[in-house]
Amino acid sequence: MKLFEVYSLLPIEPVRAEGSWLWDKDGNRYLDFYGGHAVISIGHNHPKYQQAIKNQLDKISFYSNSVLNSIQEELAEKLGRLSGYEDYSLFLCNSGAEANENALKIASFVSGRKKIVALKNAFHGRTSGAVAATDNPKIVAPVNAGHEVVFVGLNDLISLEQAVDDQTAAILIEGIQGVGGIYEPNNAFFQKAAELATKHQCLLILDEIQSGYGRTGKFFAHQFSGIKPHLITTAKGMGNGFPIGGVLISPEIKPWSGMLGTTFGGNHLACAAAVAVLDIIKEENLIENAANMGTVLSSAIGELIAPATLRGKGLMLGFDTPAHAPTLRQNLIKKHRIFTGEAKPNVIRLLPPLNIGSTEIEILIEALRMELSANQPQ
Ligand SMILES: Cc1ncc(COP(=O)(O)O)c(C=O)c1O
Repeated sequence: MKLFEVYSLLPIEPVRAEGSWLWDKDGNRYLDFYGGHAVISIGHNHPKYQQAIKNQLDKISFYSNSVLNSIQEELAEKLGRLSGYEDYSLFLCNSGAEANENALKIASFVSGRKKIVALKNAFHGRTSGAVAATDNPKIVAPVNAGHEVVFVGLNDLISLEQAVDDQTAAILIEGIQGVGGIYEPNNAFFQKAAELATKHQCLLILDEIQSGYGRTGKFFAHQFSGIKPHLITTAKGMGNGFPIGGVLISPEIKPWSGMLGTTFGGNHLACAAAVAVLDIIKEENLIENAANMGTVLSSAIGELIAPATLRGKGLMLGFDTPAHAPTLRQNLIKKHRIFTGEAKPNVIRLLPPLNIGSTEIEILIEALRMELSANQPQ
């Protein structure tokens, strides 16, 4: 059997990883400023994380959600404490799309409605409601297109006000738009969304799947604005590569037996991985490191490119590829062995592990300096 070829692949196969570095089978070393799509939070192969998974494997790796599982409770308690959402409850699943799908479902159950207000340029995943709320018709199949979704412009307060009404089940916003190219909702937009959700009795969902888990220098990106959404979705950095996702749910929302469910969500191994991630984030002050290293990284990049084209917070940064260096991302990987992310049409995204250090930042900056000065327009 062949693989179903849906990905455009780089001709590189990492076989080993540690911290912010990856190695291929020939021993070539690559610096990771992409974190496998914002997934690597505590660094590759953190020894404490590895040990926690191994220990769990020796005990029990899976049983269904029909029995008690105290590792889920430990995870919920630690996540509540570190994120500042101690009074919320947690539903566990396996991926980002699934977290959004469940959040939309909760909003629809609670409001009794089905209209979703989402943002232009948004990405929320590939499954039914999540992809319908994603502003990219190329990945929406006819079977997903039946959802009632209205897209409004980012930071367009008037359009948001016009779109949200008494038919609305949910307003769905990314903490920072990631796949769309690192665009941030401003405080006024977050606050207007929260206000409209209260006024029309619909639910505000914050998709923090890429922007959460400490990446921006706060646990969740929306926490810079002071709002409290009804639902917050998370995945990626939550398991540092072990598949796990979750929905943080406001205490106003009451569950009932059978409201949501999953076979694999919250399994023992995934929870052990996610608990280790939270312990390491806390013990190693990684949220603070993301804030500090983010400042170092953004000020250094700001000296190399037009500062106005640099966007984002902490270690979730993006900038427009300068016109005189259109192959910058390809050159970084081919010539300098540095992984970065992209966003169409021309954005470079930086999503390194949260424990990246100044040495690694200097290596990236030196490579950027070489590439940008080599291609300087005459
Ligand atoms: C903001 C956001 N939401 C949802 C998803 C979907 O997550 P997953 O690929 O785990 O389904 C992604 C993935 O890139 C994302 O960036």
